[in-house]
Amino acid sequence: MPLYRPRPSIHIVLMAILKIARMGHPVLGQVAAPIEDPDAPELRRLVADMLETMEDAGGTGLAATQVYVPRRLVIFYVSADRADRENQRQEGPENDEAEEAEEVEEAEEAEEVEKVEEVPLTVLINPVIELLGEEMVTSWESCLSVPGLAGRVPRHRAIRYSGIGLDGREIAREARGFHARLVQHECDHLDGILYPRRMTDLSTLSFTSELGARSQAEAAEG
Ligand code: NI
Repeated sequence: MPLYRPRPSIHIVLMAILKIARMGHPVLGQVAAPIEDPDAPELRRLVADMLETMEDAGGTGLAATQVYVPRRLVIFYVSADRADRENQRQEGPENDEAEEAEEVEEAEEAEEVEKVEEVPLTVLINPVIELLGEEMVTSWESCLSVPGLAGRVPRHRAIRYSGIGLDGREIAREARGFHARLVQHECDHLDGILYPRRMTDLSTLSFTSELGARSQAEAAEG
């Protein structure tokens, strides 16, 4: 009896969940290079893997630099269900409706809470952001590359963004609020910027486990 017998050939399922770089790794500080061929098959494979990685990690966005590929590509998605869940969580389970509405209103006035909105599943190659107006909104963000932490980050309330979709067509949209925040966060990754660098008040940088439900800390996990 031989000690070693070759195994029968098996179908190998390629693992599609990618490792996510964490703050401190040099790839996250790189300015990503433009993608010259949006039709390249390896780009399709990368996007498929990034989608699976984002879903597995529970994120709402992911930039190619976060999976060690310094190219100008981001994906993002907030389902209607996810938006509802995040908004319910921040409202908290214990309040009755009237009290809840009042509190949310107060919090919105104080810019404590930014409503999470549904955002279509988007693959954006070589994205460009144009800022619309000077108005800023400060709200919670977290990042898959900065696990366990969240902080309040000022972002432009309204933007116009454009880029190439995976089908080769140009995507051009205007976005406000949470949608605009998410796109700004992801595109910052392509310029080597993590959200703590955008914070103006570092005293809000917190472990999500120490924050209450209202922090909405995981909403913008990208
Ligand atoms: Ni991020």
